[in-house]
Amino acid sequence: MTTNADWISRSLAHVWHPCTQMRDHEAGGALPLVPIASAEGVWLTDFDGKRYIDAVSSWWTNIFGHRNPRIVERVKAQLDRLDHVLLGGFSHQPVVELSERLVRIAPKSAGSEALTRCFYADNGSSAIEVALKMSAHYWRNVGQPGKTRFIALDNAYHGETLGALGVSGEGMYRDAYSPLMQPPIVVPSPDCFDRTPGESWEDYTRRRFRLMEETLAKHAHEVAAVIVEPLVQCAGGMRMYHPIYLKLLRDACTRHGVHYIADEIAVGFGRTGRMFANEWSQTTPDFLCLSKGLTGGTLPLAVTMTTNTVYEAFYADYAAQRAFLHSHSYTGNPLACAAALGALDLFEQEDWTARNRITSAGIWGLMGELATHRNVIDLRQQGMILAVEIARNPRKREAYPASERRGLRVYRHGLEHGVLLRPLGNVIYLMPPYVIDDDALVQMCRVAIDGIHAATRD
Ligand SMILES: Cc1ncc(COP(=O)(O)O)c(C=O)c1O
Repeated sequence: MTTNADWISRSLAHVWHPCTQMRDHEAGGALPLVPIASAEGVWLTDFDGKRYIDAVSSWWTNIFGHRNPRIVERVKAQLDRLDHVLLGGFSHQPVVELSERLVRIAPKSAGSEALTRCFYADNGSSAIEVALKMSAHYWRNVGQPGKTRFIALDNAYHGETLGALGVSGEGMYRDAYSPLMQPPIVVPSPDCFDRTPGESWEDYTRRRFRLMEETLAKHAHEVAAVIVEPLVQCAGGMRMYHPIYLKLLRDACTRHGVHYIADEIAVGFGRTGRMFANEWSQTTPDFLCLSKGLTGGTLPLAVTMTTNTVYEAFYADYAAQRAFLHSHSYTGNPLACAAALGALDLFEQEDWTARNRITSAGIWGLMGELATHRNVIDLRQQGMILAVEIARNPRKREAYPASERRGLRVYRHGLEHGVLLRPLGNVIYLMPPYVIDDDALVQMCRVAIDGIHAATRD
């Protein structure tokens, strides 16, 4: 029998873990490494037999629980038929069926062109790269080669590859690499955390949009696209804003001749309370980037959906050299597509929007007691995302210094008590798989609340 200790030491010998100061993982360090042996539903089990509720859906991917039977069945059946084939020059059943179904369910709105073309990649950052490259290349192909810049929101996060990081906000993810990237035009975020007391979310969001409108008016001639995370800036601390922003953005982009790229990698597939966040404002972007929940969190896959107008700008005789020459080896992998078909089956079998409405009301009901906690500056929720922001002095809007690592205290408390929470600095959030049952939900909330009390005691 192997134990946690065996796997920790073997892991530390050769595995460089992502997004981590590796020293924190060493014995006695701030971040104990947890080797996982198996998983089922919302539960992860380590090699010593301890169980943890996956309250962050394994980086927001796992919407239907681990090893969901429908998805497992689809992947196993596919594995018996076709494992992988290049998508360059070849096609296969799962990628065709998946594309047809994605086109059917993509957000639609009167007056906007539908998303009918699917370009695949194998992770979210690559889907963003595709959208950025396709947008700029589109303008080149239609005779406007000067449109090469991007507008992004402050505090945005779109991934780690240089292009995706390039349109992400300033901060620790980006600082070391700034000299390697072309800076975007950054517009202040509509994030309602900063609204004035008494101001509604909608009024604040509308007010903030004026800055976007001004920027578009000034820079449209050199800008290919505006990229945003609809409704929730997840990695930026689960900061939220009103859907009116998306409607205003869609209209302004059309008026100014600029693409609208919606990064629904984290919020797509029901997370915000609708299948896609853009549905809250009945908007259709020019590019829709999806990943994470696309396969129910089982296998890596991403897709960038776009319109026929964009597609047509690349469609020409070979000699015209207008094709989109971009690829990844595992683009449209059949097993990953089969997993995605399984996830879409699950969406068809049950009304998850209705079920999540009940679950998210339950989470709000349990976490509501934190609203009066002396160190809670904000408690916010959008669908199946609830965030608690802690601060040293909420009245004076004085944050805890990052060096105090308060969130880490909550993380450790969570692990001790069987819940995987992974706070973003001073923001503790719950983003569980949709299949969470009442008992696990109560345990998750109780542990998060107790962890916040413990982390703010001194
Ligand atoms: C909104 C958003 N965009 C892009 C990404 C990047 O996706 P990936 O980690 O699969 O590259 C993430 C990842 O968290 C994300 O939250």
